[in-house]
Amino acid sequence: MIARKRDGAVLSEAEIQAFVRGATDGSWADYQLTAMLMAIYLNGMTAEETAAYTRAMMNSGVVADLSQVKGIKVDKHSTGGVGDKVSLPLAAMVVACGVPVPMISGRGLGHSGGTLDKLESIPGFNVNLSLEAYREQVTRIGCALIGQTADLAPSDKKLYALRDVTATVECVPLICGSIMCKKLAEGIDGLVLDVKYGRGAFMKEIDRARELAHGMVEIGREMGKDVRALITAMDQPLGRAVGNAVEVAESIACLKGEGPADLMEVTYALGVEMLLIGGAAKDADAAQAMLEGVVHSGAALNAFRAVIEAQGGNAEVCDDPDGLLPRAAQRVPLQALEAGVVQDVDAMAVALAALKLGAGRARAEDAVDHAVGITDLVKIGETVEKGQPLCVVHANDDDTWAAAEVMLRDAIVVGEGAAKAPPLIVERIG
Ligand code: URA
Repeated sequence: MIARKRDGAVLSEAEIQAFVRGATDGSWADYQLTAMLMAIYLNGMTAEETAAYTRAMMNSGVVADLSQVKGIKVDKHSTGGVGDKVSLPLAAMVVACGVPVPMISGRGLGHSGGTLDKLESIPGFNVNLSLEAYREQVTRIGCALIGQTADLAPSDKKLYALRDVTATVECVPLICGSIMCKKLAEGIDGLVLDVKYGRGAFMKEIDRARELAHGMVEIGREMGKDVRALITAMDQPLGRAVGNAVEVAESIACLKGEGPADLMEVTYALGVEMLLIGGAAKDADAAQAMLEGVVHSGAALNAFRAVIEAQGGNAEVCDDPDGLLPRAAQRVPLQALEAGVVQDVDAMAVALAALKLGAGRARAEDAVDHAVGITDLVKIGETVEKGQPLCVVHANDDDTWAAAEVMLRDAIVVGEGAAKAPPLIVERIG
């Protein structure tokens, strides 16, 4: 099978199943698995092979059965970005509009933050529910925000770890299969993808993001699920906060309708797609009005409160985020050295500064510091006066603060002349 793929043959569904079974039960050695991964990396996979690979990986573990949950169950997945806290307000808004949202998320790694780390900055919040408890909670309140259980797509866990150390991550069919097998194992009917491109994204080029989006939408079609994608820009951070607790605070602001404009825009745009898939609205305008309605009435914030309470967290953070979320020892403004217009805020550089502060993890086994991060970030095109804060650095010690300050000075460029960020939502696929 390895030789056939190496020589450019198209593998049958049975061959792909054998490969994935080999990863799951250990009957293929790591060197054989990685040889196959490299053969796939070099030769690609057809749409049929990719669908077969996704199906085999999804079926390598349990597939949650949410048939008892009434309604069309819709989740969202982002390919990851900087300051991307959208899942938190989005899940609450959509469930407040009556569409169930079963959501299984990941942790941050490298420059990219993770929904679970953000949620765990809420005191008491438990992301480690069993699939049974997850099912019970989605049935009861329409939403659960949990981490991947060991029995969900175990083949992906094995193969992703091997890809990570054998230069075979950046392969569109392998990425599509890896993301989609986990999402489809959640028991969903539909999925909205936020495929990001730009400096702070997994895909730097829009063409690669488009290829990834088409690949995942195609898998959805093959599997009889309604999957749609938005391609969104990730050159500057989303919103004004990067970190964990600070991003929860910004999510709460978003649920009160007070979030930064770019965060509100992406959250609403993804929410519109989710409501359309969920059959809750007849068209995009009606869906947008519903989302704005649940924000203004407080129903969306109440839905977030309900999820926090159901998962053991202190829902009072919704009323007093500043007082109840973890706080860093120091909050230091980074002042503009000159007046001008913000020309650039490099998402990747900001992410690396947040990582330096301790907000993220360089290796999977590292711990994160929930309190640290960056807030009040300026956006491209804004005018600043000399001495005005470009951002506020939340740090727990002087060394990391000093290192982050240097990095942020490079990341945020102030100069003369107007500047404008490129459009945020670039394309809709599916
Ligand atoms: N995220 C995943 O879950 N899998 C990949 O292959 C890449 C990103």
